[in-house]
Amino acid sequence: MQRALLAALIATFAIAAPAAAENFPSHPITVVVPFSAGGPSDAMMRILGERIKLSLGEAILVENTTGAGGSIGVGRVVHSPPDGYTVGFGHLGTHVANGAIYKLNYDLVADLEPVVLLPSNPMVIVSKNAVAARTLPELIDWLKSRPQPATAGTAGAGSGSHIAGLAFESAAGIKLQYVPYRGTGPALNDLVAGQIDIIVDQTSNSINQIRAGSIRAYAVTDSKRVEQAADIPTVDEAGLPNFHMTLWSGLWAPKGTPKEIIAKVNAAALDALMDPQTRKNLENLGLQMPPADKSTPEALGEWQKAEIAKWWPVIKAAHVAVD
Ligand code: MLT
Repeated sequence: MQRALLAALIATFAIAAPAAAENFPSHPITVVVPFSAGGPSDAMMRILGERIKLSLGEAILVENTTGAGGSIGVGRVVHSPPDGYTVGFGHLGTHVANGAIYKLNYDLVADLEPVVLLPSNPMVIVSKNAVAARTLPELIDWLKSRPQPATAGTAGAGSGSHIAGLAFESAAGIKLQYVPYRGTGPALNDLVAGQIDIIVDQTSNSINQIRAGSIRAYAVTDSKRVEQAADIPTVDEAGLPNFHMTLWSGLWAPKGTPKEIIAKVNAAALDALMDPQTRKNLENLGLQMPPADKSTPEALGEWQKAEIAKWWPVIKAAHVAVD
């Protein structure tokens, strides 16, 4: 009896799954952004969502589930039904660094399906305007002259702004006091207000405040200048050679999400990246488009594994694990 019931269930599911994939999507899709609304991850996902909803024919609902360097939002996706209606935005911090920092109750590779690589962000070193420095060497001297370590805003341990801060500390020989927020959106507000001293931020987050003159920029962590902020020197030009760091992003789905559904979301995201207006909105924030040869779900999976192999030893050596 039980065997017959099981056979019937499997048969039903085997029939249902392709049908589900075929009819996907039949209602709105939730994209979990593991950081605050108004920050760089949120802004990128909302710009992409405007176009993706046209390709998929259903609304894209951005849900900001924040905390613990983004690991809580990623956990929300891991534990969601593998039906394509919940996918997660993430980046080098949430889908690489956090695995070396937190005792996660999930595996960043085994419990998630990579969907698509998204644009990347060169980081930019910014300070409140009250800092008595105009160049990067002057900023580093100012940071070294502080009786107490200067305060650096982050989106929590393991976030992009945190691992960029760690890399800046080791590159410049300085110490920083990290101030965690639920995203660099609110951290930037406090920088503008002079409540914290610096952020090593995603360019797309700080670019408008830099343009407005309400914060000061010293260098971008790339070998080439950001076209949309061409007056900001590279770290090489500013005197901190080879402190290169670009924060790449992506979308992931829960383990077991049908390949056909992942292929549909992948195609819709690639369509959005090719759409002239969407691309213009992203590039205007200084975002760099992902390489065309890394557009498949498999390519994101391989890239994530390579980044884990590269970054975990560095992060573990920094002894920043969170119990
Ligand atoms: C955010 O959207 O707040 C960022 O991605 C945070 C970070 O990782 O620094």
